[in-house]
Amino acid sequence: MENLNMLIKEFKKEFGEKGRLETFFSPGRVNLIGEHIDYNGGKVFPCALDFGTYAVVRKREDNIFRMYSVNFENLGIIQFNLNSLVLDSNDDWANYPKGVIKTFIEEGYNIDSGFDIAFYGNIPNGAGLSSSASIEVLTSVILKDIFKLNIDMVDMVKLSQKAENKFIGVNCGIMDQFAVGMGKKNNAILLDCNSLAYTYAPFVLENISIVIANTNKRRGLGESKYNERRASCESALKDLQESEIKITTLCDLDFESFENVKKNIKTNESLIRARHAITENERVLEAMEKLNSGDILSFGKLMNQSHISLRDDYEVTGLELDALVEAAWEEEGTIGSRMTGAGFGGCTVSLVENNHIEKFIKNVGKKYKERTGLEASFYIANPGEGARKLEEI
Ligand code: GLA
Repeated sequence: MENLNMLIKEFKKEFGEKGRLETFFSPGRVNLIGEHIDYNGGKVFPCALDFGTYAVVRKREDNIFRMYSVNFENLGIIQFNLNSLVLDSNDDWANYPKGVIKTFIEEGYNIDSGFDIAFYGNIPNGAGLSSSASIEVLTSVILKDIFKLNIDMVDMVKLSQKAENKFIGVNCGIMDQFAVGMGKKNNAILLDCNSLAYTYAPFVLENISIVIANTNKRRGLGESKYNERRASCESALKDLQESEIKITTLCDLDFESFENVKKNIKTNESLIRARHAITENERVLEAMEKLNSGDILSFGKLMNQSHISLRDDYEVTGLELDALVEAAWEEEGTIGSRMTGAGFGGCTVSLVENNHIEKFIKNVGKKYKERTGLEASFYIANPGEGARKLEEI
């Protein structure tokens, strides 16, 4: 409420008092297990967070969009026209909503005017908690509402991903937009990224919390090695398919079949990337069994193994993430700890017994600083609701 009231004030300051305002919210997400396999047809287990991005919107009569973010107040109001929706580096963060608007129009949705909008987000940017998916899905929900579009959440999720792939140029999978759009309070989502079949799993653990630790090492997804990793997986898949192995995604293989066919993968690099994808998918399935049987300790061990595979086979961790995770593993009360999101900086996710959290934050923060010279930040995360309209004002 506090964030929203502040944002309404900011909106009025930038764009004037008159007219009807609408308000919206979209969360960030954290992935508990199943990393770098959404684009390999695997299963992932993220949840939406209870922090995210707020927007205050007022429809306009003309074709102008004026966008303002409290997080980037130095950039001022960014303005563009409905008739020229092109990627423009001067428009900085506003390219995300712009790309979503363009994608909706290309898909045939009738968007026939501009709007004024103010955003405020409390997801740390570039921290691997999906601040970009959050603003994309938020824009989709806004378009649906103010232009009265007939579209459901899963389609909005797909168009948001498409905007990121085609407009922004980051070849991300579907996980982030899905978690942000379809999140449910107190639940994580088991999502099959191949079929988009999903189930909710209650994720409120007795005496245990989800602790997110931010390396505070900024990671630009666009410039990172993300697309490269994806290309290595695609080339492993191509090698296998060309050897008459009947699969459509890497995660169609279980580990045993992978061991039998891996000789067909031409480069060692593609082979180890594929090995991560296939073992990670198996870990997710095993983690679900453990969770269902109430064996949270084993769930935590699988999180640890996930990190090791991301470190050694997928090579997306780096000094900062490893330092945080290794320090977490040494703490009493840590059930499991791993990097989350794309990697190369960003955040880790840990399950920690509540009565050890204070000490966890103190000790992990201290060891991290000793190893990297950086200050980590910590957040306790609660699985939250997906993107939605708030009340009208
Ligand atoms: C980023 C991408 C997701 C997913 C993760 C890694 O967050 O946006 O699609 O690939 O990295 O699991």
